[in-house]
Amino acid sequence: MQISFGSKTLTETLQDEKKSVLTGSRPCGYRHILDDYDYYIQNIEKSPELAQTKIAKRISEGASAIVFETEGGDVLKLTKFRHYPFLRPQEDFDVPVKKHGKVGRIHYYIEEKLYQHNLNEGFVRIVKGMIRDKGYRVYDLSDFDTHQIGMSKDGKLYLLDPECARFKTIFHALYNKTKRLFKMLDTYVKPMGY
Ligand SMILES: Nc1ncnc2c1ncn2[C@@H]1O[C@H](COP(=O)(O)OP(=O)(O)O)[C@@H](O)[C@H]1O
Ligand SMILES: [Mg+2]
Repeated sequence: MQISFGSKTLTETLQDEKKSVLTGSRPCGYRHILDDYDYYIQNIEKSPELAQTKIAKRISEGASAIVFETEGGDVLKLTKFRHYPFLRPQEDFDVPVKKHGKVGRIHYYIEEKLYQHNLNEGFVRIVKGMIRDKGYRVYDLSDFDTHQIGMSKDGKLYLLDPECARFKTIFHALYNKTKRLFKMLDTYVKPMGY
């Protein structure tokens, strides 16, 4: 379900969202959302740039993220915890993230907007294959969960919800982190002659 608000700032949009849930003018899928609005409003105030971002509409409230479309046509996701599982880097199968950061105690992600029309189980299976090929475990992604995937304008399939790809074990996470550290040293330190 998508509701348009016109062009309001993120703070105003969150205030409107809270009001519409409180007055019962729209149903809300998750009980925690009402408290979350205050939490997000308080935290985003610490970044005037984020708080003033113009929002075109709300796209969704997931179990972990509140998702908006910005006036510029990007997706803006707010989460209370890091949306990527512990130590997991962004991979080729993840939706391209243009900018992300932590403001106060919340995380925000500005991503490319993907399209979800006409995606069926076959597409989900392809994304699952992409996740497994990179050595991750597929989590909470049944073949019918087309809402967790999307397609870019140029027809590339991506995973939208990073929580669906997890490390198999803590050792896998630490090994991957060490590998990335060595790669970084190789790229930046070696050319300096160390
Ligand atoms: N980049 C995106 N483009 C288009 N829709 C998105 C994008 N990211 C999320 N969504 C929509 O928002 C929903 C919730 O986002 P998601 O990342 O799955 O959060 P959660 O972890 O709370 O489930 C998705 O199921 C999808 O419909
Ligand atoms: Mg999801």
